[in-house]
Amino acid sequence: MSLQLIKSSLGSPYYESDVVLIYNDDCISLMEKLPGNILNLTVTSPPYNIGKEYESIMPLTEYLAWSEEWIEQVYRICSLDGAFWLNLGYLPVSGKAKAIPIPYLLWDRIPFYMIQEIVWHYAAGVAGKKFFSPRNEKFIWYVKNQNNYIFNLDAVRDPNVKYPNQKKNGKIKVNSLGKNPTDVWSFPKVTSGKNRASKERTPHPAQFPEAVIDRIIKASSNESDIVFDPFLGSGTTAAVALRLSRKVVGFEINNQYCDIAIERIEERLKKGKLPIQSSLFE
Ligand SMILES: C[S@@+](CC[C@H](N)C(=O)[O-])C[C@H]1O[C@@H](n2cnc3c(N)ncnc32)[C@H](O)[C@@H]1O
Repeated sequence: MSLQLIKSSLGSPYYESDVVLIYNDDCISLMEKLPGNILNLTVTSPPYNIGKEYESIMPLTEYLAWSEEWIEQVYRICSLDGAFWLNLGYLPVSGKAKAIPIPYLLWDRIPFYMIQEIVWHYAAGVAGKKFFSPRNEKFIWYVKNQNNYIFNLDAVRDPNVKYPNQKKNGKIKVNSLGKNPTDVWSFPKVTSGKNRASKERTPHPAQFPEAVIDRIIKASSNESDIVFDPFLGSGTTAAVALRLSRKVVGFEINNQYCDIAIERIEERLKKGKLPIQSSLFE
């Protein structure tokens, strides 16, 4: 799929290179203009409706209806063998739950086929007093076609094997590339603060850790595929996708966040020639 087709549907981007298109607008109105079945992999984290600086809180029913609307568009534009990775947090539900994982409120309103829930575990966070201290978020892996989707397990095997020389019938039992990393992933959060800020930290208040996105993109797409993030924020999805020689389409409603993302993208592009050399605007 060429980025030219996307550009001809959406018009002039906020930023472009031969492997990147960034638009500064509402993602639903942009997605509505795109043709179907064109983007290989979507990785995103929308506002959680918890009052962060980039969102205004909606009533729960409205938030869920809005979520259904944008996810419907992601489904429509996803390629036939494509995937959608969704990171969402928790919300209180009056009289029902102190904190329910948002994907559980949406599970039967999403047209994709759900492969799996990944638990992303991290070490730092708030301390619970009358409950266990929360230390995980969910990433839900969806595909468009349950019989035809990408899973590059060898690209993401965990080399940290406890008994690498274990044998069965005289043969080494363990894959030499490592083990399946399982559905619980431990990666540190992107932290802020004078002495404890992560190296990858930008001024964006809700940044993905690059390591999580690296595993997702390697597992669920191939080189030259288009990786899409409709809520681009600081551009983590874009920076990692470019490092892995994928193309990028990103939407972000806030132009200051767009600028942060573009700075990261340009830094990434400067770091050397990517294997995708030819112009993608054929
Ligand atoms: C949770 S943050 C994403 C952070 C991102 N994953 C990163 O690594 O920096 C959600 C982002 O969605 C943006 N946003 C909110 N509503 C939007 C909309 N309707 N269309 C596009 N972007 C939107 C916000 O400005 C915010 O930057």
